[in-house]
Amino acid sequence: MELRPLGSTGIEVSPLGLGTVKLGRNQQVKYPSAFELPSDDQVTRLLGLARELGINLLDTAPAYGSSQERLGRLLGRARGEWVIVSKVGEIFEDGQSRFDFSFGHTVATVEQSLATLKTDYLDCVLIHSDGDDLRILEHEGALDALRELKRRGLIRAHGMSSKTVEGGLCVVREMDVVMATCNLEYNAELPVLEAAHAQRRGVLIKKGLMSGHVQGEQGVRRSFAHVFAQPGVSSMIVGTINPEHLRDNVRLLEQVLEGGA
Ligand SMILES: NC(=O)c1ccc[n+]([C@@H]2O[C@H](COP(=O)([O-])OP(=O)(O)OC[C@H]3O[C@@H](n4cnc5c(N)ncnc54)[C@H](OP(=O)(O)O)[C@@H]3O)[C@@H](O)[C@H]2O)c1
Repeated sequence: MELRPLGSTGIEVSPLGLGTVKLGRNQQVKYPSAFELPSDDQVTRLLGLARELGINLLDTAPAYGSSQERLGRLLGRARGEWVIVSKVGEIFEDGQSRFDFSFGHTVATVEQSLATLKTDYLDCVLIHSDGDDLRILEHEGALDALRELKRRGLIRAHGMSSKTVEGGLCVVREMDVVMATCNLEYNAELPVLEAAHAQRRGVLIKKGLMSGHVQGEQGVRRSFAHVFAQPGVSSMIVGTINPEHLRDNVRLLEQVLEGGA
């Protein structure tokens, strides 16, 4: 797959990224069916297959259960081949989420992610919004902390996984990358994508397959066509632990991008 610029960060990403919620967490998630976490062997094979298929982008978060610990252990020396996007703000413990967007917690979270992922830099760190985007950006310390971490060279880019149009527009003004939702049934955040395109910000799409509620191959193909018809999309992050789905997704997305949808 041909890499695309992540806005003006200088980072290049594959148009399909691998979401890693399902590598580490199977509680309090909204997928259509329950699932077992994959074994270490299955994760290693999935990561190898993703690289073989041209995927270079991993999306993870401390709130994704054991996702970061497993990636740190299983990526090994291949870390340099990947663009790693991580998050700050959400803490998932004992089956419950809570949030902390303070300066100190943000710095401590990034330092912990670096240790867990066994790396000395993160390519991009997103604020994991609880839904109150503007309050977080305007009244909490996370944004200043990420700016400071970028100055220190611990992260290459920053952004927010936002949930509102006002919040997303503020992210576009203040940060490098916005992660927004766009799919066949939800298009409320399209103004954010347009603004990000105009400002040359990186755009990551989450929940593009409606968290697995999309119907059949035709539904997946239509979802890709819809997302990539929007201006300025850098990458769509799709979470899968099924190698066949991963292969299908790359094949279908390539058809869409070549204009054969
Ligand atoms: N920051 C946030 O607030 C936030 C929220 C949600 C998600 N995310 C990120 O975005 C990623 C994607 O979001 P998401 O996981 O909610 O939604 P998604 O990518 O729209 O959907 C993932 C679901 O789709 C299924 N799937 C994948 N390919 C398929 C195919 N070809 N045919 C049928 N089903 C398929 C997967 O099941 P199989 O495993 O069976 O393939 C999985 O259950 C996450 O992994 C995470 O990294 C971030």
